[in-house]
Amino acid sequence: MKKLIDLITEITEQGFADCGYERNLGKVTLSNRPDLCEYQCNGAMAGAKLYKKAPIMIAGDVVGQISGNEVFEEVTAVNPGFINIKLSGGFVSKYLEQMDNEEKLGICPEEKQETIIIDYGGPNVAKPLHVGHLRSAIIGESMKRLSRFLGHKVIGDVHLGDWGLQMGLIIEELKERQPELPYFKEDYKGEYPAEAPFTIGELEEIYPAASAKSKVDEVFAKKAHDATFKLQNGNRGYLALWNHILNVSVADLKKNYEKLGVTFDIWKKESDAQGYIPDMVEQMKTEGFAHESQGALVVDVAEETDAKEVPPCILLKSDGATLYSTTDLATLVEREKLFAPDRILYVVDKRQSLHFTQVFRCAKKTGIVRPEVKLDFLGFGTMNGRDGKPFKTRDGGIMRLEYLIREISDAVYEKIMENRSMGEDEAKETAKMIGLAALKYGDLSNQAAKDYIFDVDRFISFEGDTGPYILYTIVRIKSIQAKYEELEDKPTGKGRILPALSESEKALQLMVSRVQDALLSAFVEQAPHKICQYIYELSNAFNRFYHETKIMAEEDKERQAAYICLLGLVRRVLETCIGLLGFEAPDRM
Ligand code: ARG
Repeated sequence: MKKLIDLITEITEQGFADCGYERNLGKVTLSNRPDLCEYQCNGAMAGAKLYKKAPIMIAGDVVGQISGNEVFEEVTAVNPGFINIKLSGGFVSKYLEQMDNEEKLGICPEEKQETIIIDYGGPNVAKPLHVGHLRSAIIGESMKRLSRFLGHKVIGDVHLGDWGLQMGLIIEELKERQPELPYFKEDYKGEYPAEAPFTIGELEEIYPAASAKSKVDEVFAKKAHDATFKLQNGNRGYLALWNHILNVSVADLKKNYEKLGVTFDIWKKESDAQGYIPDMVEQMKTEGFAHESQGALVVDVAEETDAKEVPPCILLKSDGATLYSTTDLATLVEREKLFAPDRILYVVDKRQSLHFTQVFRCAKKTGIVRPEVKLDFLGFGTMNGRDGKPFKTRDGGIMRLEYLIREISDAVYEKIMENRSMGEDEAKETAKMIGLAALKYGDLSNQAAKDYIFDVDRFISFEGDTGPYILYTIVRIKSIQAKYEELEDKPTGKGRILPALSESEKALQLMVSRVQDALLSAFVEQAPHKICQYIYELSNAFNRFYHETKIMAEEDKERQAAYICLLGLVRRVLETCIGLLGFEAPDRM
């Protein structure tokens, strides 16, 4: 369906054209004086210069031309030359009626459907997940769902970090603890055990221990380096160990992501890209893009217009080692080959922005991605604790995702048990759902690039701009629907949405009509917070309507059925939106 605002714009544009003015002056916007009108057009102001005529004259001409249109309840020219618009109730209710009959609320798939890879999550194998990974997962998942909803072909890739120094550290630490393992025997020719020599719990203890040791023990650090090098050059035993680390870690990661409602279409990893590196580097050399600088092999990516210096992109260090950038470039080679995407969206901590600037420029300059491929970076800020510093647990450690989720759903559980008579099991399930909504909405409602404060008490509040408030609104609708279902003297068949009777109903209807606008701008601006903003306003509009309207006591049965129909549509819109944000509503709370 066309957006409501575009339908109105078509009429005003025609009005300008019919009066002999430029058609494109007729653009309509949301009113910034909702007390005066619903939409407005400021084209006459811009036309004044063009036609050397007072704007109010132009506005008057246009209003005279279009005011007979049944779409308008009121259209007026006001000083100094605005056109104020109020829509007729019938036009709006018909629009909603049509939305209600469409499968996806009448939201059109985007004209050009793209193949989009979303690179998000980005956990590092064997290292604990931290809150940055949490943000990436939450934001990336919602961009994935939204893009898919709008008709794009989307491939969500977790892009595991599995090829760095952490592997050498773990291997070396294991070697010190269990030197008898066959993985460390140079001349071992047999099969390696199928079982990993550690559990995830042990692995989680091994890495921080090894990492800490490497910072104080130079010999150990060097050994870990060598182990990494050996692994990357195909040492059989180390590869077998790496496989164990990978499998144990991935199983755990999958469990964690499942709890978060985050799913990836592919589980690619840094190591998958390694095979592409030699040819890629060779090509960059022979085509003259790569040159030596202080022993390293680099590609210059600075541009004249750079306000800040952008250093060259390093392909190989002087010892021949590859870097994070080399891997990301090779991953692009692989992605071109496997998926030929139109766009790749990286959802990563904004502190990596320079890295991606270098990688994107290098990829474009050297032609490893086609010129038309869009490489986008959605950089997010830090999640801070109430002290304003990056979030930590109470005992000061990095927060494990599991604890974070538990902390928040425990808090919700207590709250539910305090004031409600719900069975324990239902309360637990409900608390999980609300907790997830609180966590995700708490994150997504901020502009991604901004830092924000993780504040459990605020996130789980049932009032204000929070996930639970949105859920509460949906639950309220569900409960009215259930009560209505039990009525005996209701008309048969589905009711119709009728023209609004009150101002609050009209405001609610207008808000419902704008879901497509909200989703499209969230997609175009890569800004899930726009969806949050929208459902918060929609929930407010609904709750105002609810408090001002007697729904269950309404005596006019046709009117009552119309209210229920409107409620059903509000619920569908809200549920669609929270589905795109990655959470769902319980039946009661
Ligand atoms: N593993 C990286 C980290 O923990 C994030 C990966 C982001 N994606 C990428 N293609 N570099 O910082």
